[in-house]
Amino acid sequence: MKNPLTSYSRTIRRALLRHRIIRIGLVILILWNLVDLHFILRLVAETDAVYRDQPRQTERIYIAMVNWNNEYLLRNHLSKAITELSWRLRPENIYISIYESGSYDNTKGALVELDAELEQLRVPRNITLSYVSHADEIAAPPDGEGWVVTPRGKKELRRIPYLSRVRNHSLESLRKLAKQGIHFDKILFLNDVVFTSNDVLELLDTNHGDYAAACSLDFQKPPFYYDTFALRDSHGHEAVTPTWPFFRDASSRRAMKQLQPVPVKSCWNGMVAMAAAPFLASPPLRFRGIPDSLASYHLEASECCLIHADNPLSKDHGIYLNPRVRVGYTTAAYVAVNPTLNWLTPRSVLQGLWWNRIRRWTTFSYFKESAIRKKIAQWARWSPDRREVGEFCVVDEMQILDVRGWYHV
Ligand SMILES: *[C@@H]1O[C@H](CO)[C@@H](O)[C@H](O)[C@H]1NC(C)=O
Ligand SMILES: *[C@@H]1O[C@H](CO)[C@@H](O)[C@H](O)[C@H]1NC(C)=O
Repeated sequence: MKNPLTSYSRTIRRALLRHRIIRIGLVILILWNLVDLHFILRLVAETDAVYRDQPRQTERIYIAMVNWNNEYLLRNHLSKAITELSWRLRPENIYISIYESGSYDNTKGALVELDAELEQLRVPRNITLSYVSHADEIAAPPDGEGWVVTPRGKKELRRIPYLSRVRNHSLESLRKLAKQGIHFDKILFLNDVVFTSNDVLELLDTNHGDYAAACSLDFQKPPFYYDTFALRDSHGHEAVTPTWPFFRDASSRRAMKQLQPVPVKSCWNGMVAMAAAPFLASPPLRFRGIPDSLASYHLEASECCLIHADNPLSKDHGIYLNPRVRVGYTTAAYVAVNPTLNWLTPRSVLQGLWWNRIRRWTTFSYFKESAIRKKIAQWARWSPDRREVGEFCVVDEMQILDVRGWYHV
């Protein structure tokens, strides 16, 4: 006869064993997290302690910036940062090209003052102030490139071709100077962000200065990064989480965890250094949007992503996001991601790692991306010369210019 007591004690033993396995599992999990945490926090502390006094190598830098309604930032931060940067890089090694158009605030006044300061430092420059506003652009006859029929049945001006045109203006002087035999090694594109000259030196030195493009990481509302439209990991996927360590693809994520330059397929994120040569090649590398005919499928792509897709240097020299260079759209955002000690806290590291894992394990980029690929294939079927090399940049959006900015339709 079966002894009820033995079977009872067997159940208990089995339960205890199971508990022990669970317990060992938990201990391993906690240890693993602690080890991970320890190494990452040590890296965070070490990498933030680096301070560059001098550029590591003397390079000639063409600095390009476009401005629209940036009076507040210029007066409170940007003008001073640019003046200091000019002094650190030495006026004889740089050229500053600024293109402003149609601001509603007194951005022009702030730029005139900056112009005077740069004059004192003898910085060669071209600061162009244009009076063409968004309202003028929209009121133009809707023919030529950059217009699309929106779902409400109107032909409206696309935001991206407009921005491409404006950014292209900031490259005009580069071409003119080249004709005079004046050349540059790198182009530094500055958005309307808060940065220090040290950030720029660090950015220029990304991967020892060898890259097709090197970007900072941008924050408007930390800990969330800002420029989702242009950032793609080394497999061309969008970021999987808006917080550190951001990426889905393993090689991008690993570099971000080690705070090394992160290989990506595209980035912009506030501040970008690019090798200058492709911009002077023939045909020259320029900003562009996707064709209007493709945009009419309710698709859009950032000019700041397409430029990497078009850049012949991208493949061999790489595009890197430098996690040591973090800029902000406000002073508060800048300070939050550049504290005196440790911009990543133990809590943000653990939360970030697990949020990223859970998102990777439970979401798939496939469905979203294949829907877009299908639309592009439909579009391409119409003609053999329809090709889009920046497929990974394309998102399911329509962006229309507006008097006060722009909007989605
Ligand atoms: C960009 O600039 C190039 C050269 O100046 C020009 O041919 C091209 O049309 C521009 N693209 C856009 C979208 O404005
Ligand atoms: C300055 O920039 C404007 C706008 O891009 C351009 O039209 C002009 O030719 C440039 N001037 C010089 C001297 O490079």
